[in-house]
Amino acid sequence: MAEVLEVPTAVEPTKDIGSKTEETESQNTSQQDSISDSIVAKHYNERQDVGLTERTKSRIFFLRNFNNWIKSICIADTLQRLRDSDPTARLTVLDLCCGKGGDLLKWKKGQISRLVCSDIAEVSLQQCEERFKELGNRSNNPYDRGTFTAEFYSADLSKELLSEKYEDPSIQFDLASCQFSFHYSFESHAQAETMLRNACEQLRPGGYFIGTVPNGCELVRRLKTSEGTQFGNDVYTVNFHSKDEFPLFGCRYDFHLEGVVDCPEFLLYFPLLEEMAKKYQMEIVYCKTFHEFFDEHSKDPENNRLFGKMKSLEQYPPDRNTTASSTTEGDYSHAEERLNQLKERTDRFIKLGTLSKSEWEATSLYLVFAFRKETHSQPQTAAT
Ligand SMILES: C[S@@+](CC[C@H](N)C(=O)[O-])C[C@H]1O[C@@H](n2cnc3c(N)ncnc32)[C@H](O)[C@@H]1O
Repeated sequence: MAEVLEVPTAVEPTKDIGSKTEETESQNTSQQDSISDSIVAKHYNERQDVGLTERTKSRIFFLRNFNNWIKSICIADTLQRLRDSDPTARLTVLDLCCGKGGDLLKWKKGQISRLVCSDIAEVSLQQCEERFKELGNRSNNPYDRGTFTAEFYSADLSKELLSEKYEDPSIQFDLASCQFSFHYSFESHAQAETMLRNACEQLRPGGYFIGTVPNGCELVRRLKTSEGTQFGNDVYTVNFHSKDEFPLFGCRYDFHLEGVVDCPEFLLYFPLLEEMAKKYQMEIVYCKTFHEFFDEHSKDPENNRLFGKMKSLEQYPPDRNTTASSTTEGDYSHAEERLNQLKERTDRFIKLGTLSKSEWEATSLYLVFAFRKETHSQPQTAAT
């Protein structure tokens, strides 16, 4: 068990998005041939759901668990905010772009009452539904089966309105969550608008919209400081098509994350999302880099314990019979440095919890955010 948490300092994002061209939109607003309904859905459908043993061997095992920790804390924090304002509330949640159901356990732990899941990738959605059933079957308590009910809708959320599909069209959500996915809709203004409408339209006043997205400013900053149009390291690479043009919508880059993602994505300039969300009476609660969020929440003993439970940080130095995730020279120099500082203060044998620099560089590309619907806002039936 790690005694001290340590992560290397993240590169601070600049607020400059380069020479973004105001109001420039992608020409590709057609309903038929967008990237999302072809390459993205195919990519996620074809991704194998490897078991725990395989995941443990992955080069980015700790990075994935760290990202999962961020999601866990963000979700738990939001559910707590909702319960603080109404301790008896029976919570209804919308999991947009739910994938294979990576957050199902978080919803169970958060004791929600009702869940709606949706994703464009039908195979992933089926696996999500299977996992949901297993969640009930795994329980020893026969009454535990219906901890929460769940519905599943396959949809391109950047083009189709979920409100036209719900079994109960009057459904109102306390929380909409869109994890690691919203940026796909920034292919065009119309798609981002539809995705946002799906997230916010049926939120009740006081309800939250939370998520995690790549930080457009940080992506552009790294691009600008790289030699060509590509940057990254041994765990992730990003390929832009231009170094000078950053349209607000349709600014494509290709993202590769070791063994997990190999997909076109679209630059998301967060202040733009903030502006667009106002149409749905959404106020920003926070938007933080993963580094800021980690700093803020990791000191809490409960969250700290979760690091160990979720294996979200790598132990440094590794135990004698284990090898470090990274073999790249210098990838743990930050941990080594910190260890040396600590050794000067104590004779005790100290171990740190850390991430290799390469993994930290990948995860520090992301933002975590929460919006809240104004409490005086009227329930919306159709966006204007
Ligand atoms: C990186 S995965 C994240 C999955 C899940 N939210 C999680 O955190 O584990 C991105 C997901 O977004 C889904 N997605 C991308 N574009 C979409 C769209 N236009 N409509 C619905 N789902 C979409 C993909 O199919 C994929 O399941």
